[in-house]
Formats: sequence, C-alpha cells, structure tokens
Amino acid sequence: MSDLYAVFGNPIAHSKSPAIHAAFAVASGQDLIYEARLAPVDGFKRAISDFVAAGGKGANVTVPFKEDAFRLATRLSERAARAGAVNTLAFNGTEVFGDNTDGAGLVRDITHNLGFALAGKRILLLGAGGASRGVIAPLLAENPSSLFIANRSADKAIALAVSFADIAAVDAGNFAKTAGYCFDLVVNATSASLSGESLPLPAGIFAPDSLAYDMMYGKGETPFLALAREQGAGQRADGLGMLVEQAAEAFFVWRGVRPATAQVLADLRAKLLA
Ligand code: ATR
Repeated sequence: MSDLYAVFGNPIAHSKSPAIHAAFAVASGQDLIYEARLAPVDGFKRAISDFVAAGGKGANVTVPFKEDAFRLATRLSERAARAGAVNTLAFNGTEVFGDNTDGAGLVRDITHNLGFALAGKRILLLGAGGASRGVIAPLLAENPSSLFIANRSADKAIALAVSFADIAAVDAGNFAKTAGYCFDLVVNATSASLSGESLPLPAGIFAPDSLAYDMMYGKGETPFLALAREQGAGQRADGLGMLVEQAAEAFFVWRGVRPATAQVLADLRAKLLA
C-alpha cells in the first residue's frame, strides 16, 4: 500500500501542496499518496490523531495550525523550536516529530534558484509575525553582514530581534527607522500584500543590485514588488519558489530523498499565469 501524507489547513481547497508532492513522487519514484485535508479551526489535534490512526505517515501544516502543530509535537527540530511553529510533521510510532522547512525553503530559493549568495549581505526583513520568525535563524545561518527587522509596530520587531540575540546582533524598529540604510536583500514577510496594501518604506533603501523578495505570490505583481521596482531594486521575486522549496525539504524529511524542483516550479508558474 502507498504511504499516506496530507496537508492540513483551513481553508485548504486551493492548496498547491498535493500537486507539488504528487509531482515530486513521480519524479523521484516514491510510492506515496498526498491529500488535502480540511480541519475544523478548533479541531486540529483530533484531525491529526484520526489521520495517524488511518495510517498517515506525515503531514504538512498551514494556516492557521502551525502553532497547534508546534504544541502537538513530542519532539522538535532545532529550526522548528526557533521558529515557534511547525509546518511538517512526521509520525513514527508514538512519536510526533515537528519540523519547520519554511526558512530552508526561502534560503534555497534565494541562493540556489535565484543564484543570490547571502554571505556578507545586508538584509532587511519586513514583518514580525510567524512568517518572519520562521526564517530568521536560517537567514542568519548564511552569515549575512547584518539583519534589520522592520515592522508596523516597532515593539514586535524589537522583541523578535531580542529573541535571536544569542545568534547575532539584529537591528529592529518601525519602517521609518530604516531611512538612511541601504540593503542588498529586502524580504517581505508581512501579510500586507494579502489585502493589496503597500508598505510605507522610506526611499533609498534598495541597493541598485538588490533582490526584493515577497513571500506572497499571485498572478500579477504584488504591491511590494511594484514598490521595489519603482525604487530601483535590480532583482525581484515572489514566493512561489519558496513554496516549492519548503515542500521539497519536507519531502526530504519524510523520504530521505531530495526531489528536483525546477520543472515543478516552472509548471506551477505556467499554471499561475494561465
Ligand atoms: P504571519 O503568520 O503571516 O506572519 P501574523 O503573525 O499575523 O501572520 O503577522 C502578520 C505580519 O504582517 C505582522 O508583522 C503585521 O504587522 P503588525 O505586527 O504591526 O500587526 C504585518 N502586517 C499585516 N498587515 C499589514 C499592513 N497593512 N501593513 C503593514 N504590516 C502589516
């Protein structure tokens, strides 16, 4: 019988994860089934225990359950413990292993797919919620020269910077506080693009050959990437590559096999633009 995996979220109907993992399975010759499962907002734990009872081997977890998954795990990877959230679960007997592949997915997309090395770079991370927290340690592990976390409410950015102070000195403040600085990489981890809103970023923060990266993606240019283009960011990318790469990393956690991602990403991009 094929091994069973699923992504849990609410809503979940439009998740691209089943198509991504099905493509990985075919390309890497792995025998598995991967489904999308809707869990009630207050019923994540039950949904997972039912899934495990039915033979589920592993799960991806998306909005709004990443913190529930963090609490459910009986063992955490170091990167999940740092992120305070879990997007990948692996079930082995009574053990529920919780991992977080979001940061690795972002770093892999930037360094490998986009060919943008992070060592020695000045990084600005916009946002101080869960999406931002999940990528900080993996970004710092690439040895950038500096990291600045900017958020609408400065106190959340400062608290986040303090919680990573044992790894590196991280600057923090509101968006206006970035005035006068110049960055090589600017990552948008706010949810502002979801509501079509632009961010009040001071002029001059994008170095000419900088990369502007929006964790969001869509058919058209996101408001953040439009702003980055107007402000002269040389390279711009949305989060579709991160989506595929975090999935590949989860696939590796479960199967011990690293699937090729380029064709899967190209197919998804073509579908998005169709
Ligand atoms: P996620 O898990 O996606 O990170 P979250 O934890 O709710 O979601 O965090 C959302 C982030 O987007 C926060 O940094 C939030 O800023 P505040 O902390 O000031 O609320 C940011 N955000 C959401 N909408 C925004 C907007 N219109 N402009 C600027 N920042 C916004």
